[in-house]
Amino acid sequence: MKVNGTDYRSIWDRDGQVEIIDQRWLPHDFRTVAIDSLDEFAVAIRDMWVRGAPLIGVTAAYGIARQMSRDPSDGALQDAYETLDATRPTAINLRWALDRARADLMPLAPGERAEAALALARRLADEDVECNRLIGVHGLKLIREIAAKKPEGEPVRLLTHCNAGWLATVDWGTATSPMFHAKDAGIPIHVWVDETRPRNQGGLTAWELGAHGVPHTYITDNAGGHLMQEGMVDLVITGTDRTTSQGDVCNKIGTYLKALAAKDNGVPFYVGLPSSTIDWTVRDGLKEIPIEDRGGREVTHIQGTLDDGSIGWVRVTPEGTEGGNPAFDVTPARLVTGLITEHGICEASTEGLASMFPERAA
Ligand code: MRU
Repeated sequence: MKVNGTDYRSIWDRDGQVEIIDQRWLPHDFRTVAIDSLDEFAVAIRDMWVRGAPLIGVTAAYGIARQMSRDPSDGALQDAYETLDATRPTAINLRWALDRARADLMPLAPGERAEAALALARRLADEDVECNRLIGVHGLKLIREIAAKKPEGEPVRLLTHCNAGWLATVDWGTATSPMFHAKDAGIPIHVWVDETRPRNQGGLTAWELGAHGVPHTYITDNAGGHLMQEGMVDLVITGTDRTTSQGDVCNKIGTYLKALAAKDNGVPFYVGLPSSTIDWTVRDGLKEIPIEDRGGREVTHIQGTLDDGSIGWVRVTPEGTEGGNPAFDVTPARLVTGLITEHGICEASTEGLASMFPERAA
């Protein structure tokens, strides 16, 4: 996507270096940074310089590639796998990318690994971009159908939670891809953007939508239910960090409440996902997905850019008050109207996913 007239992905390699957009500074400041050592890759993922399930996976693949260029031994490969795997527990794309890297590289002679690892990281990045583009193409049909039932020029009103935008992927985003496609197709839309406490990823979504000329309004996390009751939301689209084989969706904390409100008000609730986000080994999301606890400080304090240009934390609770911070929740498949994948739109169910990915479901 374009930033100040220049095309960017959220991660890229140039002259033997891997560069990322350091998302801690957004939406206030656009900064890119090179990351190189295994430790830097781990910190960038754990401390959310990069975040969003698909981007975490591709970043990990690049981390393996940089490490293989220094030490391509079996031990170094295993160590890099374990170090990166330990950074964040919920998004399955991380494990998915690491598994692909280890499976591809282990059979190779050490001398062949650096080049193969870099090729894989680039391939995963390109695949992610294409998957997300296709999610946009399929999701656009939903938006078109709603637009067709409205008086000419009246916008389709969408709601999204967290940032499942291009910053959370390599490009296009998942939930935002249909929105960008709708804008490009000249279909009028308006997006309600959930703030998404405690990390306020809604600010990233607002930044992305604003840069693409998509009309939007930033709302508190608690406003969505009311807006749905008032008939002001036509369609909810979110992303997901892990989707189970029966269609349960684990996404940023608060997604479940949006799905409940959508169900109660007859608002369609869709989830955009590349197949790298499906965990075929897990059926029951509530029982089987580890929910990341990011610690109370993200709740008792708010992070932002301070007047002196540094990143700082401001306390919003009394001294000594403890914060609780489960970072994700599970939306059971029964609350999900449909899944928008790179292969098309399906029901959130075992049968629905099997119809989209027969080779994986078998
Ligand atoms: O904690 P984050 O910012 O990594 O969480 C991101 C989300 O929950 C996104 O909605 C999800 O990864 C889907 S990204 C296309």
